[in-house]
Amino acid sequence: MANAYALGEAASRTTVQVDALFLFIGGVSLFFFLLVEGLLIYFAIKYRKQKGAEGVETPDIRGNFLLETVWILIPSIVVASFFYYGYIVFRDIRTPSPGATDIHAVSRQWLFEFRYPDGRSSINELRVPAGSPVKLILSSDDVIHSFYIPAYRLKQDMVPGQYTTLYLHPDKAGTYDILCAEYCGVAHSTMRAELIVMEPGAYAAWRETQAAPAGLSLAEQGKALVEKSGCLGCHALEGKEKIGPNLGQGFGRKVLLADGTSVTADEEYLRESIYDPKAKVVKGYPAVMPTFKGSLSPDDVGAIIAYLRSLSGDKEEDKKKEGEKAVEKEERRGKEAPSAQKGKALTETLGCLGCHSVDGSGRVGPSFQGLFGRQVELADGGKVTADEAYIRESIARPKAKVVKGFPDVMPDFEGKIPEEDLSAIIVYIKTLK
Ligand code: CUA
Repeated sequence: MANAYALGEAASRTTVQVDALFLFIGGVSLFFFLLVEGLLIYFAIKYRKQKGAEGVETPDIRGNFLLETVWILIPSIVVASFFYYGYIVFRDIRTPSPGATDIHAVSRQWLFEFRYPDGRSSINELRVPAGSPVKLILSSDDVIHSFYIPAYRLKQDMVPGQYTTLYLHPDKAGTYDILCAEYCGVAHSTMRAELIVMEPGAYAAWRETQAAPAGLSLAEQGKALVEKSGCLGCHALEGKEKIGPNLGQGFGRKVLLADGTSVTADEEYLRESIYDPKAKVVKGYPAVMPTFKGSLSPDDVGAIIAYLRSLSGDKEEDKKKEGEKAVEKEERRGKEAPSAQKGKALTETLGCLGCHSVDGSGRVGPSFQGLFGRQVELADGGKVTADEAYIRESIARPKAKVVKGFPDVMPDFEGKIPEEDLSAIIVYIKTLK
């Protein structure tokens, strides 16, 4: 019944609701438009001046109480009904759905990343089973983006430093477009993703085929987060200090702040310092750390704190244990030899794929496919072979040698990617023949 309103077959109950509202407002407006314009034309013809007729003076009408009451009341009721109906639909769309699955959606110039509760994540693809409501927790890593699913008639801003939410009711299996609906830079128009709604059975089968998220402990997850989030660009673990305090022995220590007060570096202080680094700056260090609100979820922060705690624990172990740790570390490094698979994952998490395709299609930057070993023409007219040295330089300092025909917009990654990650990315690019 309700479906009767939907323009096309309804993908979601929100589609039906919004369409019905739209048609109601459109229909009522059209009715009054035709009524008013129709009467205008009718009267203009009926009471036009007849050819050769004498001019007749318009009668002097001073008002009609009943008529005036009616033409004030009816439009007021109509307009109030627009508001009330709109409010009901809005309230329903914004009401939390019991049992909804929380999925984080993070936007970055110029892609969407989805993070699922079981630890999986995906780029530009949101896959959900039909019939189960989803709560999307939206945030942005950089500028304001807007999360828009035309088929669901839903749109919500993604704001840096703030969570916004959107409830999805994926009622019908299918693939639907997700677009960015807020101008966010050169590649705004290519910033799109897919919502893939699968039948519950098919979804369960698909999940089986996915590699289970590695069963990492909280601290191990934190270690990975610290490495991939760029913390180590400014914080050393131990030894010679970089821009910020060392992470190794920080936990639980009393620290002196720039404003002369002191604070214990406990969980709460670390959480605050990750989300709002300028709130309590340690004395003697520049207040230059960016906020990680939006890019590190509360869960991420919990894992990082667990890792920092484990680091300070290391300090108390005796030399022998430390020696064993070093051996273990060496072994782990061996295991983490640059692999194309790791490089692939890195290009996703670092956001490279927002601007570079891997299938030869042109986006903001050159495609990674067939890049390695090719001669490329530069913006300054020179030529260079895209070998390992060139790719390395272009990641560290993209502005040094810009490829002809592409805008000079890539950010600098110098010092932000650990050496082994850089090698992995290059190994990955080499595989894209
Ligand atoms: Cu993101 Cu427009």
